[in-house]
Amino acid sequence: MRAEYRELVKKAHEAKKRSFAPYSNFHVGAALLSATGEIYTGCNIEISTYALTICAERTAIFKAISEGERCFKAIAVVSDDPGYTPPCGSCRQVLMDLAGNIDFLMINGKGDVEILKMKTLLPHAFGKKNLDRTKKKRG
Ligand code: THU
Repeated sequence: MRAEYRELVKKAHEAKKRSFAPYSNFHVGAALLSATGEIYTGCNIEISTYALTICAERTAIFKAISEGERCFKAIAVVSDDPGYTPPCGSCRQVLMDLAGNIDFLMINGKGDVEILKMKTLLPHAFGKKNLDRTKKKRG
């Protein structure tokens, strides 16, 4: 694995330590690499009403977008799951919209890394193109 991805995995592990998950006890860390080489970390943050909980991936990308970043290369996600942790459906849509077809790095408990393209995780995604195509009709 290339050095910048090794660093990304390390940062995701560090972010997991900051996870706030008192309800599920399922702690997740994410690290997102921008095209300029910056790394934005995120962790899951749980809310007592459950539905307002935010996943680690969305924390990371919202942080990055709010800092002005618009181009991304990859995101790494870790949890205590002995298997790989795939992103939830909501995160797939958010990542596809805001980061496009980046590499999604899943890391299991043994430290093995599996890299999937976002398009593999969310084929036939809805997106801006769909809205643009009907713009005229909507006036
Ligand atoms: N979670 C993430 O943060 N990322 C994922 O990819 C899967 C799930 C969080 C949400 C919730 O706090 C906990 O894991 C259990 O679903």
